Amino acid sequence: MFKKITKAAGALALLATLAACGGSDSGSDGGSGGGNGDSAITMGFSQVGAESGWRTANTKSIQEAAEAAGINLQFSDAQQKQENQIKAIRSFIQQKVDVIAFSPVVETGWDAVLLEAKRAGIPVILTDRAVDSEDTSLYETFLGSDFVEEGRKAGQWLVDNTEGPVNVVELQGTTGAAPAIDRKEGFEEIIAQRPDIEIVASQSGDFTRAGGKQVMEAFLNSTDDIDVVYAHNDDMGLGAIEAIKAAGLQPGTDIKIITVDAVKDGMTALANGEINFIVECNPLLGEQLMDLAKKVVAGEEVPERVVTEETTFTPEQAKAVLDERQY
Ligand code: AHR
Repeated sequence: MFKKITKAAGALALLATLAACGGSDSGSDGGSGGGNGDSAITMGFSQVGAESGWRTANTKSIQEAAEAAGINLQFSDAQQKQENQIKAIRSFIQQKVDVIAFSPVVETGWDAVLLEAKRAGIPVILTDRAVDSEDTSLYETFLGSDFVEEGRKAGQWLVDNTEGPVNVVELQGTTGAAPAIDRKEGFEEIIAQRPDIEIVASQSGDFTRAGGKQVMEAFLNSTDDIDVVYAHNDDMGLGAIEAIKAAGLQPGTDIKIITVDAVKDGMTALANGEINFIVECNPLLGEQLMDLAKKVVAGEEVPERVVTEETTFTPEQAKAVLDERQY
């Protein structure tokens, strides 16, 4: 299934804009490699922030891939704030960049600014996280994980590896963010087949280690008989480990822990038996993003959705791959 670029007139307008951008001062040659010569592409990229190990690896992947592809990257860190992302996108439009890519901190509230980009003839690529908009003509493609499926994998491990009754506490990601919404949905869909599994408390830890620790401390103070922590990312799970240890309990044994991401710190805790199961979410999206950007700017057709390939890890599997883990 392919998404058409735009209507013919729109495509012509886009080509005219791109021709104008090629010689502008925002379109510097962007450094080494890539073979783009004088017509190097300028990409405006608005990143969510630096909230987690996953995000750090994702940023590095995008910066390195842009350099290797000869793409001039205008990078902006939104510090987990939607208003900062909207400002960054407006600034990219003013600079007349060739393509805008961004990872939306939350799902909703993007239509107005994306319409401005569309009217300016600047194509938009979503990466990592989706937007919840009825107008899919506002962006060219979405590259990233299937977060609902990640939640399902976490739920399936719990169903297959526990006997009831099981009390689960859930550390949700950033409120309103696609991975928080979807990982919850996928997990709940699967555990519904086991009425003896119950989510007894659920709160956002904002995808950060500090947030996970703080919320877990509150759960331990207010909730009896916690059997399992389901954390929407490794960092919150690692924060929960600190809180569990401080409460005199053994993470992974007294309380089982399931997380999502598989960054090096998470995999180390898994290999040590402090986490019991990790669902992978791959942050290394840079190369695919740059390939898509080149195609979109050249007016080529691109798939509407590019889903990242991912796996899951048990402690034994973590031990086997830990040494060669890149991030
Ligand atoms: O959008 C991907 C999620 O965002 C990662 O799972 C999490 O670690 C990050 O903050």
